[in-house]
Amino acid sequence: MISPADLWTRLAALPRPTLRELFSATRDGGEGTDEPGDADRVAMLSGRIELGSGTEGAEDESAILDAGGIFFDWSKTHLDRAVLAGFEELAEAMDFAGMRAKLFAGEVVNPTENRAADHATLRGVGDPAKVEEAEALLERMALLVEAIHQGALGDVDHLIHIGIGGSALGPALGVDALSRELSYCDVHVVSNIDGVALEAAFAACDPAKTLIAVASKTFTTIETMTNAASALKWLSDNGVADPYGRVVALTASPEKAVEWGMDETRILPFPESVGGRYSVWSSIGFPVAMAAGMEDFRAFLAGAKAMDEHFRDTDGSANLVLRAAFADLYYTRIRGCQTRAVFAYDERLGLFPDYLQQLEMESNGKRVTAEMQPVDGATAPVTWGGVGTDAQHAVFQLLHQGTHLIPVDFIASVAPGDALDPAHHRILLTNCFAQAAALMAGDKGEDPARHSPGDRPSATILADDFDAATLGALIAFHEHRVFAGAVLMGINPFDQFGVELGKQMAKAIEKGGGSFDASTTGLLERAGLG
Ligand code: F6P
Repeated sequence: MISPADLWTRLAALPRPTLRELFSATRDGGEGTDEPGDADRVAMLSGRIELGSGTEGAEDESAILDAGGIFFDWSKTHLDRAVLAGFEELAEAMDFAGMRAKLFAGEVVNPTENRAADHATLRGVGDPAKVEEAEALLERMALLVEAIHQGALGDVDHLIHIGIGGSALGPALGVDALSRELSYCDVHVVSNIDGVALEAAFAACDPAKTLIAVASKTFTTIETMTNAASALKWLSDNGVADPYGRVVALTASPEKAVEWGMDETRILPFPESVGGRYSVWSSIGFPVAMAAGMEDFRAFLAGAKAMDEHFRDTDGSANLVLRAAFADLYYTRIRGCQTRAVFAYDERLGLFPDYLQQLEMESNGKRVTAEMQPVDGATAPVTWGGVGTDAQHAVFQLLHQGTHLIPVDFIASVAPGDALDPAHHRILLTNCFAQAAALMAGDKGEDPARHSPGDRPSATILADDFDAATLGALIAFHEHRVFAGAVLMGINPFDQFGVELGKQMAKAIEKGGGSFDASTTGLLERAGLG
C-alpha cells in the first residue's frame, strides 16, 4: 500500500484548476473533462443533514421533529474528483474508519492520557453502558434545573457561571445563542481571573436572587477557584447566610468539590473521559439548561446526535464532515494557508468563532504525531472570524485583496431570527451569498487597486432555521471535523500539554524565589512583583 507521505506528495502534484475553471470550463456539461458540469459539481460537493433523524430515544420528540435540516455546500472550494480521490486514499492509509470505530466504541483515542473521548455518549451515541451512565447524569441535572425553575432554591433571577476554556466557551455560546427570546434567568459567564469581569457580574446581580455555578473539570484551575472564592465572599458580604447553599458545582472531580466545601446534592458530575472543550453536552451545559430550559437542552443533544449518526455511518466523500476535513487539509498542507476564517451571518452565533478557536486550535495545534514523531506538514491553521455583515466592513478587505489565501466558512439560517421587516434578513442573506460569490469570481477592476483576483475559496453552511437542534448539530459537525483532520494528520486531538508550561511558570512566579530571564525579571520588578 502506498504510504501517507507519498499520498501527500501525489496530492501536492495534482493539477490546480482555478474555481472559475472548475465551474465555467465545464458549463457545457463537462465535455472533454473528467469533471462534472456546474450543477453536478454543486451536487457532488454539497449535502443535507436532516436533524429529525436524531430523535430516537429523545424524551420530547415533538421539539425535534420540526427541526429541519442543514445544507453544507463545499462547491466553492478547489476540491475536485482527483483531490477527493486522493484524500479518500489517504483516509484509508490512515485507517480513518478504524479510528472512527474506536471513537464511537469508547476505546482509547487519547493515548498520551490513556483515555477515551466520550462526548458522543452524552448525546446518546456510542457504548451502551456509557450512554446509560450519561442518561442518568442528564436526568440528575434535569431534576435540579427543573426544581430550581419551580422555586426549590427560592427566587433565582441570576446565574453567575464561573469557569474557563472549555468550561466557559460552550456555555457562553449556548446561553447567548438559545436564550435571546426567552430566558428563565439571566446568565453571566465569568472566565477571566481579572476581577473586572467578576465585578461586572456582581454589579448586574442581586445577591439574594443569585446562584453561582462553579464549572471545572478538574476543580483545580486557579482562575476558576479564585473567582469562585470571591463569589462566595460576595454572597456572604451581602447577607446570604449559607453561601455554599447557593452554589452548584459542575465537575468530573466531585471529590475535589466536596473538599472545597460543596454538599454532594448540588454537585453535577460528568465522566473524566469527556474532554474540557467537548464538555458543553455534560453538566457543564447547566447554564444553557438554566437559561433556555431542559426541552431546548435535550433538542441541542438530539441535533448533535443526528450529526454523530451521519459521521459514524457515512463513508468516503459522502461523509460531509470528512469532506470538510479534506478541504481543511488541502488548504493547510497543499496551498499553505495559515489561517481559516468563519463568519456567522447570524447574530445569535456571535460567539461561535471564539468557541471554534479553542476547539480547533487546542485540539489540533500539535507538532508531533500520536506515535511521538515530528509531524510531516502543517497542522491546525489559526481559526478566526466574526459576524456578518459587521465583518464585511472591517476585515473583508484583506480576504478579497490581501496577499494571504484564507478559506472562509459562511454560516447562515434561511429563516430569520427577528420579527422585523423581512428586509433585514433578506439583506443579511444576500450579503452572505454575495461575499462568497465575490471571493470566488473576483473582478478585473479599472486599475490594480480595484482588481480583486478571485479564486478565493469558501464553504457555506445553511440551516433551514436556527434553534437548539441546529446549534447542537453545528458544534458536533466541528468536533468531528477536528477529529477527522487529526486522524488524517496522524495526531492526537484530545490532549493539550502545550498549555501547561505557562501555567507552571505562573505558579513558580506566584510562589516567588524562581529565577527567570532578564526580560521577565525586569517586568516583574516593574510591576512590583519581583
Ligand atoms: O488550560 C487549558 C484547559 O485545560 C482547557 O483544556 C480546559 O477546558 C480549561 O483549561 C479549564 O479546565 P477545567 O475545566 O479543569 O477548569
